[in-house]
Amino acid sequence: PLIQNLTGIHKKEKALQTRLGLEGCRIVSGDSDDQPEIKTAMGQLTNTLMQHHMPLGPSIVAVMGGTTMAAVASTLTQELSEQRQLTFVPARGGMGESPDIQANTICAKMAARTDSTFQALYLPELASGSTYATLRSEPMIAKTLATIDQANVALHCVGDAMAMAKRRQMPADVIATLQERHAVGEAFGDFFDQSGQIVYQVPKLGLSMSDLERMDLVVAVAGGHTKVAAIEAYFKLPPAPTFLVTDEGTADTILKK
Ligand code: G3H
Repeated sequence: PLIQNLTGIHKKEKALQTRLGLEGCRIVSGDSDDQPEIKTAMGQLTNTLMQHHMPLGPSIVAVMGGTTMAAVASTLTQELSEQRQLTFVPARGGMGESPDIQANTICAKMAARTDSTFQALYLPELASGSTYATLRSEPMIAKTLATIDQANVALHCVGDAMAMAKRRQMPADVIATLQERHAVGEAFGDFFDQSGQIVYQVPKLGLSMSDLERMDLVVAVAGGHTKVAAIEAYFKLPPAPTFLVTDEGTADTILKK
């Protein structure tokens, strides 16, 4: 039965790869909305995928925040850095969420687990673009932004638009705008509708979706049936060839449509 199940999973990986136009796909059994430990299993597959697909030598890995990335951080292994010199860096500023799911914390943990280095980006989640313009030239911030510009690997999640807006305590008028514009998903601080069009961008410094084009490896890690609309929409206009690590709950819901 285990072999049958694996064969079934591999078929679903191929089917989802074709359906969403992915570079590659890995699926974990279960649904991470119902069983939080499934996120750890997605992390383990992400670690394996990075081991196979990340170039050898130096790499700068830009990482987003969130509960999924926190689970990925807890599963990375030292083998990743055996023939590589890795620097982990937050993909964008935006410290507003609880510390354990902030990109700075996650990067520090990834560096510790892989015996690598990290750079922090001390930028709060701000509503004002003009404040960012001033902060951009602060030496500590400018240094990390320059490192982000050199990133050749990106690890990110895709979130449900309303869940993210509420968790980040976005202002009521912004939430109303997101609703009017039918935002379904969020990645990199960009909110998009079901056709994949960006309908709102939070002011930010750091990585944008368009930066993914120049990467050697892009891995999206996102699962749970509540993220199905967001995941489908994100891959309507994929900014770059992307590997998706997800769970069977998500895959089944997309594939049976
Ligand atoms: O951009 C997406 C969010 O960071 C996803 O957060 O992994 O907690 O669902 P999550």
